[in-house]
Formats: sequence, C-alpha cells, structure tokens
Amino acid sequence: MIDRRKFIKSLSALGMSLPVLKSDLLAKPKKVAKGNPIILCSRGEKWGRKVLRPGWEVLRKRGSLLDAVEASANVTELDPEDTSVGYGGLPNMDGVVQLDASIMNGPDHNCGSVACIEGVKTPSSVARLVMERTDHIHLVGKGAQDFAIMHGFKIENLLTEKTRKIWVRWRENLSDKDDYFPPKSEKGSDKRTTGTINVLGVDSNGDVAGITTTSGLAWKIPGRVGDSPIIGAGLYLDNEVGAVGATGRGEEMIRSCGSFLGVELMRNGLSPQEACEEVCKRIIDINGGASKVDFNDKIVALGKNGDVGCASIREKKDDFPEIATWSKKGFKVTKGTYLIEQK
Ligand code: GLY
Repeated sequence: MIDRRKFIKSLSALGMSLPVLKSDLLAKPKKVAKGNPIILCSRGEKWGRKVLRPGWEVLRKRGSLLDAVEASANVTELDPEDTSVGYGGLPNMDGVVQLDASIMNGPDHNCGSVACIEGVKTPSSVARLVMERTDHIHLVGKGAQDFAIMHGFKIENLLTEKTRKIWVRWRENLSDKDDYFPPKSEKGSDKRTTGTINVLGVDSNGDVAGITTTSGLAWKIPGRVGDSPIIGAGLYLDNEVGAVGATGRGEEMIRSCGSFLGVELMRNGLSPQEACEEVCKRIIDINGGASKVDFNDKIVALGKNGDVGCASIREKKDDFPEIATWSKKGFKVTKGTYLIEQK
C-alpha cells in the first residue's frame, strides 16, 4: 500500500505535483440569488400557468420544495387532455398506458423512479414514495404497481375515450397486410408523441428538486422504458449546481446521459442556456451531424441561482421551445433556442 503522504513527498522530490483530485474540481456553491424561490416547467403559456400555480402556492408559503414540484407535476398527470403524461397519455402498441416518472432531491442527492407502471394516474407521486420509503431507486412494471397499491393508490383505466380512438385509428392504419381497416372517411395519424413534462424548482434556501413524468413514446413496444425514469437521462440535479430535465426522444437522452451532462456543464461554468445548447450539440454529434437527425429533444435547465435555459435540437413549426417559470416576479414564459432549422 502506498502511503499518500509518502507518495506526495516522492512526487515533489521528482518535481511533480499530485493531479488535482476530482472533488477539488467541483465548483463552489454559487451564491443563492434573492430571486429564489422559483419553479419551472417545460411548457409555455398554454400549460405553464396551470401547471405551476399549485407548486408556486406551496413555495410562496415556504412549504416543502418536493411538495411543490409534485403538486405541479400532478396537474398534467391528472389532466386527461394532455396525451403525453399520466391519465389520458397515449398507450403502447397494445393499447395499454404504461407510465414512467422520476424525482430527485438536492439536499440528500436522493432519487426515486418508476417505469412501465400501469393503472396509476400520478406516477411521480409513486416515484417520490420509492425515494422516501424504500432503500431502492427504481421500481418497474408489476412491482411498481404493487408498491403503489400498498401505499393506497387506486388502479384505474388510464385510457380515455379520446386516446382509445387515436390508438384504434393508428392500429387500423398501421398495415394493409392485416385484417383491420379504418372507416373509409378517416385518415390515420402518424403522430408519435414523446411529450413529457419536467418540473424543476429551487426554494428560498437554494435547495434544488425536480420531476420528469411521461406516458412515453406513443405505440411503443410494451415494456419500453424511456429517459424519464432514468436518473441522469431525463432528469438530473445537483444541489450545488442546479437541475436539468429533458423531453423528446428518450433513447437519445439515455445514450448521451444528457441531463447529467447538462448539470456537469453548468458545474464547469456554463450558463443554463449554454448547457442546454451544448447537450443538443452533443446529441447531434453522437448521431453524425445535423443531416442525420430526424428526431427532437428539448433540454431545460435551472441554475441554483434561479437562471434558466431551454434549447431544442430542431425547430418545430407551431411549437417553439419554451419554458414557464413562477417566482416572486410572477409568471413568465421564456423562449428557448433551437439548433437545426426546419426545412
Ligand atoms: N422523453 C420521453 C420518452 O422518450 O419516453
């Protein structure tokens, strides 16, 4: 065994210094801005106000940051009109709604998540219980559902009439080699959503927390897990730096460790906006350049000091990358940037 002191001595005798330890490279906590508390979601005007209102109410009354982000995430999860999250989310190829969600808490760097959970409208609340009431981080499928039942969650049909009809239309238009056919008057939809929502917050102590929740890729193969419940992919945060979340094509966030990357870029001095753009660039590079990219991801970031960022890989007509925030200054929508223009 090499004694560290002896090792340092022998290095200095050779005129060498010890490489900087990884922890010495970590940025010192940024000064917490007076602008906090703040809560952010990855939606613009249409959903932002509705989603953030209950979370802001909790923060305004100096309530718990985890309660705040959960209250906001639950809004979209419980709303049947949102077809990409929770109840009323688009189903898998068999017509079954399977939900993914994760939560992370800055002060103890703890996290919890559920994947492919069926029948529970608010998967982010189950993820929070995984974090707070177990020694595990990730529960999937039947195990996640049994855990939710144990904690009193009701098992319900998450497919609404609206999403059932969209699914049937997709199924009937999928192939001309099977026995299904759509009504003559109807055109099939080829829209495969990966909507998702991220809710990130910083409280007045400067502590950070976040949630990502989704019904995942529409018509996915049963059992497919996206980025949302994978810590470091669809959500990551560090209490000394801030939080990053993602929506869009989950597979790309997983293979780039995109949210972890965004937080580490902020730790190394990039602003939340620069970090979001850099993650998008990394994904484009991994894929061999802009001409090879036919999907989209949107990255959102919240610095510990309340600074925000938002960037998407591609421009999407009628869907500018934007985020909403609520702080003492009120409700605000901020436009992000995109890297690849729509042709
Ligand atoms: N980002 C959501 C998903 O790919 O499942």
